Amino acid sequence: MTPGTAGTKAGIGPPLAEVDTPALLIDVDVLEANIATMATLMAGSPLRYRPHTKTHKSPVIAQMQTAAGADGVCCAKLAEARILAAGGCDDILITSPVVGAHKAAGLVELATTARVAVVADDAGNAAELEAAAAAVGVTLRVLIEIDVGQGRCGVRDIEDVLRLAERVAASPSLDLAGVQGYQGAIQLDPSYAERRAGTELAHERLLRFTTRLRDAGLPVGVRTGGGTGTLAIDLTLPALSELQPGSYVFMDTVYGSLQWSQEPGSTPPFASALSVLATVISRPEAGTAIIDAGHKALSADGGTPQPLTESQCTFAFAGDEHARLDFDGPCPLALGDTVAVTPSHCDTTVNLHDIFTVVRAGTVEAIWQVAARGAIH
Ligand SMILES: Cc1ncc(COP(=O)(O)O)c(C=O)c1O
Repeated sequence: MTPGTAGTKAGIGPPLAEVDTPALLIDVDVLEANIATMATLMAGSPLRYRPHTKTHKSPVIAQMQTAAGADGVCCAKLAEARILAAGGCDDILITSPVVGAHKAAGLVELATTARVAVVADDAGNAAELEAAAAAVGVTLRVLIEIDVGQGRCGVRDIEDVLRLAERVAASPSLDLAGVQGYQGAIQLDPSYAERRAGTELAHERLLRFTTRLRDAGLPVGVRTGGGTGTLAIDLTLPALSELQPGSYVFMDTVYGSLQWSQEPGSTPPFASALSVLATVISRPEAGTAIIDAGHKALSADGGTPQPLTESQCTFAFAGDEHARLDFDGPCPLALGDTVAVTPSHCDTTVNLHDIFTVVRAGTVEAIWQVAARGAIH
């Protein structure tokens, strides 16, 4: 099957046994269910949503998300935005500042053909964007990024936010389109109580800042932020008008283990749609299998991936191309058997692969490109 083509219909594609490993698999039934669940959650809320595509880097999945009701998509970098636009996405927010005259020129060039917006947290950057936009005769939509507690990008001081918003609003080639307040530091906090407290603080801060802008007579526009880990909490709080969840489409071991709501033991309403299929390539000991997926197939920044085996085993990376599965008793896997492994962090695992092998009910339905793989600039 040619990468990027729709492939064959469900049930008549090649069986999984014919897939070369290691392979990045999507269980498309689960992917579709996750997208539908998000649409249902958001339909019951006055908030809008704009999924973050840094998770999947795929215009195909982005289009599935907008077809389900999302207002558009987010991406992290200009290079990702170009690929999304080329893949048919027509409303794109770049959630990191685009800095430098060369980058600004690339951004406004994209803005001549696609509906694109960008965040900014610096007056010098605003001047750079303004000059680039004026040079090609476009009006560039800019959102002021406010640091709501993450300590990454974002203006920290309330009067600095006001000054920057006034600067953008006064520009003939920039359009003050709103604010971004994303609290990424708490998305994966295993304690629901701490995630809730951190989200409340972030909302309070964003509300204070946007009130200051409104009191100064500035239009606030969209108030965007939030992620999968704080979704259930963001939906109950007032500061954001648009949510940016990314990981919900695939999930991973870390997100899958979060307590979802204040109910002890509550689990996320999204299931694991992503795995890496690996083959047993050595059986050196009775209780051990070596598989052909190591650091080049599975990321490690989120912790240890989880093999989906009938018997309990521990996973340990054994190099770039290998991992070791150690079973308590005899290893139930034979040489040549395959095993699916759930990544600990979906975003960084996806960026290791060129293609998704899309599987429905045990057969390969399509191959999708990880089109923005490596688009990190
Ligand atoms: C600015 C921004 N918004 C939203 C998200 C989505 O977060 P998640 O994948 O946790 O849903 C991220 C993820 O890193 C982000 O950086």
